[in-house]
Amino acid sequence: MTDGKTKMLPFGAYYQRDIPTHDAELTETQPGSPMGELMRKWWQPICHSEELTDVPLATRLINEDLVVFRDRSGRVGVLQRHCSHRGTSLEYGIIQPKGIRCCYHGWVYDIDGTILEMPTEPKDSRIYDTVVHGAYPAFERHGLVFVYMGDPAEKPDFPEYDGYHLPEGTEYHAFSHIYPCNWLQVYENIMDHMHTATLHTNMTVESVDAQIADGVNLDGFNDMPVMDWESTRNGNGCVFIANRRNPDNRTIWVRITEMVFPNMLQIGALFPSARAQRHSTMCLTRWHVPVDNTHMKMFGWRHFNDEVDPWGAGNKDDCGYDTIDFLDGQSERPYDEGQRAPGDWEALGSQRPIAVHALENPGQSDIGVYLCRKLLRSLVRGETPADTTRAISAGGKDTLNMYTQDSVLNVPVQPGKDDAKLMKEYGRKVLAIMMETDELPSHQRDAHVRARLDDLDGGWLQAAE
Ligand code: FES
Ligand SMILES: [Fe+2]
Repeated sequence: MTDGKTKMLPFGAYYQRDIPTHDAELTETQPGSPMGELMRKWWQPICHSEELTDVPLATRLINEDLVVFRDRSGRVGVLQRHCSHRGTSLEYGIIQPKGIRCCYHGWVYDIDGTILEMPTEPKDSRIYDTVVHGAYPAFERHGLVFVYMGDPAEKPDFPEYDGYHLPEGTEYHAFSHIYPCNWLQVYENIMDHMHTATLHTNMTVESVDAQIADGVNLDGFNDMPVMDWESTRNGNGCVFIANRRNPDNRTIWVRITEMVFPNMLQIGALFPSARAQRHSTMCLTRWHVPVDNTHMKMFGWRHFNDEVDPWGAGNKDDCGYDTIDFLDGQSERPYDEGQRAPGDWEALGSQRPIAVHALENPGQSDIGVYLCRKLLRSLVRGETPADTTRAISAGGKDTLNMYTQDSVLNVPVQPGKDDAKLMKEYGRKVLAIMMETDELPSHQRDAHVRARLDDLDGGWLQAAE
């Protein structure tokens, strides 16, 4: 981008050497920062359940140093890392039947930070009454540990989305992936859906070959979509609608993915089958959590059931995150392999440690990314009305709708009508159908959506003939 004074000329790098500062309001998350405080208003994943062993886990989340442990009664604790006595790291603590004991002078802390024991102090020490170690509440779900790091007086219910309550028999496979960059560039990437037709084909035979070798079929994603974007939940979320004409010229594939702010999203039907299925449910939930300002950790669940697992649940042990989501690249593969077949890890991690928005030259394909930033900025500034959908799940009343879906619709090319316009119209209609189900009990939503899609295009069976 030019400020009007900067020259942009052929062989003009000399004039383009200044690097403006990053957008601190959206990217920095240390305590007290606007985005940091927003992140702390919600439950965030901090680690895998299986990382909690007989020794504590030292970790960092949203720019705070912490230890996570499961005491021998099975309770999970998240404590500030440095002992309240004289600062020794509790990563060297000894896990107790109740709480954790600092290795240095043996103080024992309960999972809420209460001091249970101080072997080097008198039993009537005033310290018992005056000191409580810093602790955050936590719970486990489907193999992930979630923590709440915000104001205790404002602790919300964990929002229960439909995707966390898929039909009986669904397995949730927890994954995580560290990126060496700021959280926002990984999160906003989902609105940049057109990159699936560039980065993930890479427009090179070599890269596509590598993906096929991984057993991945990119059917449909190679085609450039007709994109549309919309804010959702009073500005507390947004969707992309990607519309593509299938090669039969009779059907279109409408893919909708929703982000719910500040940092969660759910992705639709699994990639290889997306354009061959009707209203698949979501296959992937992700949270994009800052570690510090230049590292982030993507946590999530892959959902396995008959509808979303084309490989079969039996393969799930082979589906480590790097395998199941080839799109996200592989951080541990050789550098030159990453150069030859780059994925999201290479593309996003290399946008600088914190991407500099002031240097971007956005085009039509970036509308979704800029919408996401605009909505996040409004949220950070407290200018966004409340997300009224959250109230549905408060107190365990019902689960929350997501607008994420994939549908194949029977919409033939219409002679004389602009096909991009036609597809966009249908994409909008599908989004309207997904949104109208907010009002329904969760167990009625799927049937309702299927019936309404049949209304829209005359029925899936007809489309599939
Ligand atoms: S530093 Fe932890 S008990 Fe003394
Ligand atoms: Fe990607």
